[in-house]
Amino acid sequence: MDQSDRFLRACRREPVDTTPIWLMRQAGRYMPEYRAVRAQHSMLDAIRTPELACEITMQPVSAFDLDAAIIFADILPILIGMGLDLAFVKGEGPQLGNAIRTPADVDALRTPSAQENLPYTLEAIRLVRRELDGRIPLIGFSGAPFTLASYAIEGGGSKNHVKVKSFMLSEPDAWARLMDKLATVVADYLVAQVEAGAQTVQVFDSWAGVLAPGDYRAHVLPYTQRVIAQVKATGVPVIYFGTDLNGLLETLPETGADVLGVDWRIDLDAAWARLGEDVAVQGNLDPVALFAPWPAVRDRAVDILARANGRPGHVFNLGHGILPETPVDTVRRLVDFVHEWGTGRTGR
Ligand code: CP3
Repeated sequence: MDQSDRFLRACRREPVDTTPIWLMRQAGRYMPEYRAVRAQHSMLDAIRTPELACEITMQPVSAFDLDAAIIFADILPILIGMGLDLAFVKGEGPQLGNAIRTPADVDALRTPSAQENLPYTLEAIRLVRRELDGRIPLIGFSGAPFTLASYAIEGGGSKNHVKVKSFMLSEPDAWARLMDKLATVVADYLVAQVEAGAQTVQVFDSWAGVLAPGDYRAHVLPYTQRVIAQVKATGVPVIYFGTDLNGLLETLPETGADVLGVDWRIDLDAAWARLGEDVAVQGNLDPVALFAPWPAVRDRAVDILARANGRPGHVFNLGHGILPETPVDTVRRLVDFVHEWGTGRTGR
C-alpha cells in the first residue's frame, strides 16, 4: 500500500498504513502561489480556464504531502447555466443578481447538462488527472441541492436564511420543483466529473445545518439521497459534508454517503458513535485552531486522532474550509504530523 490509495481505502473503511489527510479549500488565499495567480485573473476566469484551474489544484499538492487533490472550482457556477447571474464581489463574496423570488422564477430555470454548462471544469479534471499521474487521487465536488437553493433564493450568503426557509415553507410545490431541478443538474454534474476522472466526489451542503431536523428530512433529504444514489451507481465513494449538523447525526447515514463530514462542534468519537460504524468519518479540526502556536495545534490533532483510535475509515480534515490568513508552515506541520502519528501508533 502507498499514498496513491490511502485516501480511497479510508473512504471505503479499509485498513491503511497511516491516516490520510486533505484540507477543504486547500487551494486558496493562504497560499502565496494562489494569490499570485488571482492577482492576474478573476475568480471566474481561473475556474473557467482549465489550465489555470489545473495549476491552482496542483499548488497545495506540490507544497504539502496531502493524500488527495480537489479540483479547483466553486459550487456556484452551476447556477449560471440554469439562468442566474453570478459575480464574485471582492470583500463581499458571491452574489446572484437575479435571485429566485417566485414559483415562476423556478419554472424559468434551465437544466443544462454539465457538458454544456461546465465543460471547463470537466476539462480541468482531465488535465489534473494527467498531471497527478496516479500519485494521489482527485476529488470532484458540487454543492448539494439545499445549499445551492439557499444561494439562488437569498442572492448570496445569508445570516438567518429567512428567504430560503420562507420559500420552502410557503411554496412547497415550487420548492419541490426547484429541488428536483437542482438534484437533476447536480447529479449529472457529479457523474460527468467521475467520467472525466474524479475518483471520489464531495457533496457540500454547507448550510443544511440551519434547518430544523424535521424540515431537513421532509424537504431536503430525498433530493440529497437521489443525487448520492446516482453518483454511487458509478462505483466511486461519496463524501457528504455540512456544518452544524449535530442535530441530524442519526439521520445522515440515510443520505447514502460513504463518508460523512463532521465539524469541530462535537468530539469525533461522539459523532461517530451517533453516525454508526457503517460509515467513514472526515474531520474535524477547527480551522481557527491553525492560528494557534504549533503545540496547541498538535494537541488538538492528537485529540482527534486518539478519538478515531486507528479505526478504519477516518479521513483527517478540518471541520470547514481553511481560512485565508492561515500560516502555511502550520499547514505543513499538521499534514506531516498526522502521517507520523498514524504510522507510530500502528507500528507499521
Ligand atoms: O477545496 C478546494 O481547494 C477547492 C476549491 C473550492 C472553492 N470553493 C474555491 C473558492 C471549493 C471546494 C469551494 C466550495 C464552496 N464555495 C462552498 C462549500 C464549502 C464551504 O466553504 O462551505 C461554498 C459555500 C462556496 C461559495 C463561495 N465561494 C463563497 C461563500 C465564497 C466567498 C467566501 C470566501 O471564502 O472568499 C467563494 C469564493 C471562493 N471559492 C474562493 C475560493 C478559493 C475565494 C475566492 C478568492 O480567491 O477571493
